[in-house]
Amino acid sequence: MTQYDNTSPVAIVTGASRGFGRAVTAALLTRGWTVVGDARRVHELESSARALNSTQLIALPGDVTDASHRSALVGAAIEAGPLRLLVNNASRLGPSPQPTLAAYPASDLSAVYNTNIFAPLALIQAALPALTANAGVIVNLTSDAAVEPYPGWGGYGSSKAALDQLSAVLAAEIPAVAVYAFDPGDMRTEMHQAAFPGEDVSDRAEPESVVPALLRLLDTRPASGRYRAADLAVAGGRR
Ligand SMILES: NC(=O)c1ccc[n+]([C@@H]2O[C@H](COP(=O)([O-])OP(=O)(O)OC[C@H]3O[C@@H](n4cnc5c(N)ncnc54)[C@H](OP(=O)(O)O)[C@@H]3O)[C@@H](O)[C@H]2O)c1
Repeated sequence: MTQYDNTSPVAIVTGASRGFGRAVTAALLTRGWTVVGDARRVHELESSARALNSTQLIALPGDVTDASHRSALVGAAIEAGPLRLLVNNASRLGPSPQPTLAAYPASDLSAVYNTNIFAPLALIQAALPALTANAGVIVNLTSDAAVEPYPGWGGYGSSKAALDQLSAVLAAEIPAVAVYAFDPGDMRTEMHQAAFPGEDVSDRAEPESVVPALLRLLDTRPASGRYRAADLAVAGGRR
């Protein structure tokens, strides 16, 4: 049985196998956190875990929309030490190319909302007692599509708008926990490529270059609210 250092602070990072979630996971591990990370594709999660090569990473394959998987994530985190951070990063774009709202299939919209709104809130609810006890932090990954009416982005964008409002209300209801809606900006990832099928997205930022902005939130712990990585990076001068 693997022995974890249960004096380290513990984070749950959903969608830890690639993209921004993997980059955040790597940074937290380097800083001495224990990270409980998930993803649906077992092989990709296992290969990322091998590459990150840390005994402080607990990789649990599963789908955040599955209640028993969410219980397993929170259970593993609480067993590993003081749960201080939940990063709701896993997200669903919807069909690629994205349909206009006039033609958006209800089943696809439901799947987007399940992953991007209902699952993050359910995970927050499950983790909240521990996060409250440990004066923890919740980070919900949002997007400029939550506030800009880009044609074609109505499904994903409205899900992120709902997540923004959930974040804001949670912050008002639970002052003991910091709640951040964090907009990373465009990043060169699988999701971004799916959003722009066939386009060259190689000029977009690497996810790793956005991580310092998130770490800045954790280090400085400003008031709960919505933060854009670009603003945090300018303020800190460390992007
Ligand atoms: N990339 C951008 O330009 C951009 C811009 C603004 C905001 N964001 C936000 O940033 C976050 C990270 O995006 P990304 O671009 O890094 O995405 P990504 O490269 O597609 O990675 C998504 C991660 O989430 C996992 N995942 C997806 N659905 C899941 C589910 N139902 N249960 C568990 N894990 C799941 C994926 O693994 P599996 O597929 O194996 O499950 C993967 O590990 C998202 O919240 C996204 O909305 C991204």
